[in-house]
Amino acid sequence: MNTIKSYIENNKERFLNELIELLKIPSVSADKAFKKDVLNTADFVLKSLKKAGCDKVELCKTPGYPIIYGEKIIDTNLPTVLVYGHYDVQPADPIDLWHSPPFDPVIKKTEIHPEGAIFARGSCDDKGQMYMHVKALEYMTSTGNLPCNVKFMIEGEEEVGSESLSWFVPRNKEKLANDVILISDTGMIANNIPSITTGLRGLSYVEVAITGPNRDLHSGLYGGAVANPINILTKMIASLHDENNHITIPGFYDNVEELSLEERAEMAKAPFSKEDYKKSINIGEIYGEKGYTTNERNSIRPTLDVNGIWGGYTGEGAKTVIASKAYAKISMRLIPNQDWREITELFKNHFESIAPKAVKVEVKPHHGGQGYVTPIDNIGYQAASKAYETTFGKTPIPQRSGGSIPIVALFEQELKSKTILMGFGLNSDAIHSPNEHFGVWNYLKGIETIPYFYNYFTELHHQK
Ligand code: BES
Ligand code: MN
Ligand code: MN
Repeated sequence: MNTIKSYIENNKERFLNELIELLKIPSVSADKAFKKDVLNTADFVLKSLKKAGCDKVELCKTPGYPIIYGEKIIDTNLPTVLVYGHYDVQPADPIDLWHSPPFDPVIKKTEIHPEGAIFARGSCDDKGQMYMHVKALEYMTSTGNLPCNVKFMIEGEEEVGSESLSWFVPRNKEKLANDVILISDTGMIANNIPSITTGLRGLSYVEVAITGPNRDLHSGLYGGAVANPINILTKMIASLHDENNHITIPGFYDNVEELSLEERAEMAKAPFSKEDYKKSINIGEIYGEKGYTTNERNSIRPTLDVNGIWGGYTGEGAKTVIASKAYAKISMRLIPNQDWREITELFKNHFESIAPKAVKVEVKPHHGGQGYVTPIDNIGYQAASKAYETTFGKTPIPQRSGGSIPIVALFEQELKSKTILMGFGLNSDAIHSPNEHFGVWNYLKGIETIPYFYNYFTELHHQK
């Protein structure tokens, strides 16, 4: 296994160049204008799995974008690892804020990544992290070091809610049968503080619209005498949190599990600097729900955030107008016990009930998904932990993340297996933001660590 280091040393230029080619294709799943590119990316992934040594690769048609399936089965008596990842990316806008074009990858050094980072949309989320698995497979097959069976399932709709995958998984349980699911689509604390993600939050995403008068009005002639939809909407939104930043929707916290003081004390051991945190995003003070730390607020507590709000005149100069309509997109991050459909319903009922009679209110649910927590007393977690110990020289810290990969809860439900989240990104990598990047060191470290997971998992599986 010490050969993995030299394999990477001998091939790292090619590993980087291949990823750069993949990053050049703008596979934005949210925007139909990129349909061809998304399909071309699927094709790229298919070919790269074939080249990396899969015996069977398939482009699986779905009602939406295709799912790429690949496998290498060496012995049906051996355990099977199912790798999941996504080849679609978030839209790149606002484009103006990128220092280099989002689909023209460049490697630049940063303070956090002195060995360079690849700047491009999708570099960290998730093309770079997904491709680590393809290269780890290439190493294992070409050197005879693959210790077990492996299956790949790479989708193209993660960033828009994984609808086609939810359709695909229940229809292909046999094909997808596995002993553990392995995903690199999360992060870790720092390059010298490895961590393994043990939890993801759920999500409920809604769009709201407030309608006042049937047309835009002169704000002098009508102002003061009619309900202004923007005034009303912002007031309604403001009322969704109280003075302690608790969410005011009745029933919202009913299923929220309070962690014990011991569990919270354990969490608090993870290294965290409030000053560094503030500095990294240039804020004067931290903010959030009373009674909880920053790390608790962004992992074990549910939230409600406006993601976008619009209406009225936003062009240059001033226009005196009362708009007929106002809109907002709102997301709620949920903890694993909360049912996202139930929460969506609670939101809808509450939001409709607080609207004054002077306006019409409409709540349109978008998508959602369940949260996930994984115990650390299973061989999947243990194998991952040993893999990090081997390549980082440190025991990784288990950590719950605030992000969401809704499909993970469905995997557990349908395929009855645990998911191990071995993420190698950093919070500062700016996923979903302009100037997204992924450390070259992180990319190569991921490729180095993954084969150890396969080895330890196979070993522990035999001991069971
Ligand atoms: N890879 C992210 C989720 C993530 C990132 C989890 C970092 C933990 C740490 C994923 O691609 C993503 O962006 N998920 C969306 C939800 C999805 C339904 C659009 C999210 O979390 O907003
Ligand atoms: Mn992702
Ligand atoms: Mn994402």
